[in-house]
Amino acid sequence: MIKKITLSLAVAALAITAKAQDYTPLKQIIGDDFYIGVAINPNQVSGNEDTKTILHNFTTITAENAMKPAGIIQADGSYNFTDADKIVNFAKENGLKMRGHTLCWHASIPRNYMKNADGTDLTKEELYAKHEKYIKAVFEHFPSDVVIYWDVVNEALNDGENEGRYRERSEWYRICGPEFISWAFKTARKYAPANVKLYYNDYNLVDPVKREKCYLMLKELVDSGVPIDGVGMQAHWSMDVTPAQIEESINRFASLGLDVQITEFDLTVYNSIHPPKASERQIVKYTLPYDVVEKAQADAYASYFKVLHENRDKISSVIFWNVNDASSWLGRGFAIRGRLDYPLLFDRENKPKAPFFSIENYYKSLK
Ligand code: XIL
Repeated sequence: MIKKITLSLAVAALAITAKAQDYTPLKQIIGDDFYIGVAINPNQVSGNEDTKTILHNFTTITAENAMKPAGIIQADGSYNFTDADKIVNFAKENGLKMRGHTLCWHASIPRNYMKNADGTDLTKEELYAKHEKYIKAVFEHFPSDVVIYWDVVNEALNDGENEGRYRERSEWYRICGPEFISWAFKTARKYAPANVKLYYNDYNLVDPVKREKCYLMLKELVDSGVPIDGVGMQAHWSMDVTPAQIEESINRFASLGLDVQITEFDLTVYNSIHPPKASERQIVKYTLPYDVVEKAQADAYASYFKVLHENRDKISSVIFWNVNDASSWLGRGFAIRGRLDYPLLFDRENKPKAPFFSIENYYKSLK
């Protein structure tokens, strides 16, 4: 009896004193395979528990929002680098590398940026001149020994089989046509220091239809000598994504001589991260208890890391989108208000979850 009590007291004491960081860092588990990274916001560099998780595990970071056009360009057209600099200084002080995200994205355009005072659109030439000034300022501002990769264009493609290749409803496309993509890469290359590598970044690139659209676009860019170094597969995946699908995309893009990065990795425990159709809303509007999906998510993550490890010669970075389930854009209810998701390797207390250990076990099995 006494033994039992002593034992349970000891266990309780352990639980209290055990630090969230008492485990092998992810960067040590992954070794030299690729940079392993995470998207962060400026509140996560202040020395709090999230900061500790970042520093314990990762070798590279991306600013979740702070380096997007809408994060830097102010309503009056001036540039404000305050939030971005907090993150870049943190990276510099701690020897982390960064991906800049992003220079041209339809979803991150400051209000009225593409308009005249009377509400009409700028001409293509006016928009190019305005954004060239921005791209130049960005490359002059950020240290190129820290920010070594940049997403030049984000999400310019359409998803569906019955839609054209490009996202025609984007303001970039509407004003400039598809040539804004090559314009952006050429302009970025004009100002980016020579060591900085330039990427096209998009989601759903494991989908056969979108993979092919992306491949054809990239091939045209490469064949016409547009300066592009790689492709970012965002990887906002759900568990129906198969390792074979991932491998096929990596190989297809790498066959063009391009570097591949996994730039926004997370794994929803639901069928899709996107809001369901109104007719389905009743069915999916619930929160799954995590223990029901834990094993499936752990197995899926391990199978994805297997394919990433086996293709590490084609991949330079693998980056998670957010630090933990609490800071995840999905955990915050992006898809459905109030529905909790558990897409990352760390839980809401920054403790490593089953998928973390399944990745560790996979790497151990290689030794
Ligand atoms: C998301 C951020 O996580 C959110 O905080 C923000 O409100 C919207 O953007 N694809 C991208 C990222 O390229 O920039 C997006 O980030 C997620 C989808």
